[in-house]
Amino acid sequence: MKTSPPNEVSMIRAPKRNANQLRNRGLITKDLLQEVKMHNSVSRLHLSVNDSAGNKTFDECYEKEELLGEGGFADVFRCRHKARGTTYAVKEIHNGNYENYGENIKDEIKTMKRLRDGCNIIQLLDVFRQPDRTFLIMEEMEGGDLLERLYDKISFTEQDGRRIARKLIEAVRYCHKKNVAHRDIKPENVLLTSQSNNSDIRLADFGCAKYMDKPNCLMTLCGSAQYCAPELYTHTNGYSEKCDNWSIGVVIFILLGGYAPFDEEDDKVEPLVCEGKFKFHKCYWEHVSEACKNVIRGFITVDAKKRMTLEQALDSKWLRRRDMESLSLDGSCSTFDAWVRKQNESNSSFSLEGTSSRTTRTAYKFDTASVCEEIGEHKDEVDEDDGASTCSLSLGDL
Ligand SMILES: Nc1ncnc2c1ncn2[C@@H]1O[C@H](COP(=O)(O)OP(=O)(O)O)[C@@H](O)[C@H]1O
Ligand SMILES: [Mg+2]
Repeated sequence: MKTSPPNEVSMIRAPKRNANQLRNRGLITKDLLQEVKMHNSVSRLHLSVNDSAGNKTFDECYEKEELLGEGGFADVFRCRHKARGTTYAVKEIHNGNYENYGENIKDEIKTMKRLRDGCNIIQLLDVFRQPDRTFLIMEEMEGGDLLERLYDKISFTEQDGRRIARKLIEAVRYCHKKNVAHRDIKPENVLLTSQSNNSDIRLADFGCAKYMDKPNCLMTLCGSAQYCAPELYTHTNGYSEKCDNWSIGVVIFILLGGYAPFDEEDDKVEPLVCEGKFKFHKCYWEHVSEACKNVIRGFITVDAKKRMTLEQALDSKWLRRRDMESLSLDGSCSTFDAWVRKQNESNSSFSLEGTSSRTTRTAYKFDTASVCEEIGEHKDEVDEDDGASTCSLSLGDL
């Protein structure tokens, strides 16, 4: 379990390095003190998983099982409800790792409650606030996270990338509709409901999220350097939820390209991000449609006012729905209801049998330079047709 004191600038690696190096190295700061609000503690939420209301401890109600994932601030385990035998995921937070001894965690909890029933958003089921630790009980995602999947696949096909992008945008759109900025959108924080190729996704980790009671009220430099919008570095009077749109653009780029658009060490990435120039290297992008690249360019636009909106993206040539597969856009969705039904109907657990523990999985070494060399191209070459994107795309072109 890592401790990340606020204001510490920790290192982040680009995905061309291995997954273990990339994973959760990018937290700039979770110094949310200036934004902390005290809220009522959470007692009972969805389902009948409201044991915390009865003053029970986590250990009295649950058996902790294997590690599902490690974050910069917390570890997530599978846990089994002792009475029912049902399994969930639990995020175990050591309060002492946070300033103010965990008071900030209340913001994360409050945000998750606010987003309850949101489309493609991880659901919080119960909370145990104990003196030393806080336990967030969530639905368990059997498919791991998107970074892990990326390292299994190297990169996604355009079709799979489009499906994930659409769901991610819908999730973030729901957050924004509820006046919540996520501020830490990255593949590690996007979870997959199943191991299948057409798995649903859930947006997770609301540790940096912030409720916005007025426009441009966000002040804190937080999130992960590789995914961070330029205005987080440059703003003087606050920034808006459009920082999330930038991060979505970076995520889509990484999913389809297999490497980061701003591929630098944490302490050197800021000027690249603020300049906003990135390239679609021919060896990775020649088979990707212009429609997709336009969405990426639209999101990775330095000027937040000109940056593509989520609605524009959903209505773009690339993402416009061609079928009825996707969920409705108004934020209502039935996937969680289906999960609740499944839980209620069955006492059996959501077993992860057959999947390997993340801690033991061998990291896939991803080195764009050597792959380029193999096919006779150099990564740093500017492609004649694409050139360096200066993000000056007019949204009218979409
Ligand atoms: N509900 C869940 N089901 C399965 N795995 C999860 C779940 N929630 C989180 N994880 C795994 O745990 C990791 C850390 O969780 P996260 O909430 O992002 O913590 P942190 O705030 O420390 O980054 C995630 O990247 C993911 O791999
Ligand atoms: Mg995380």
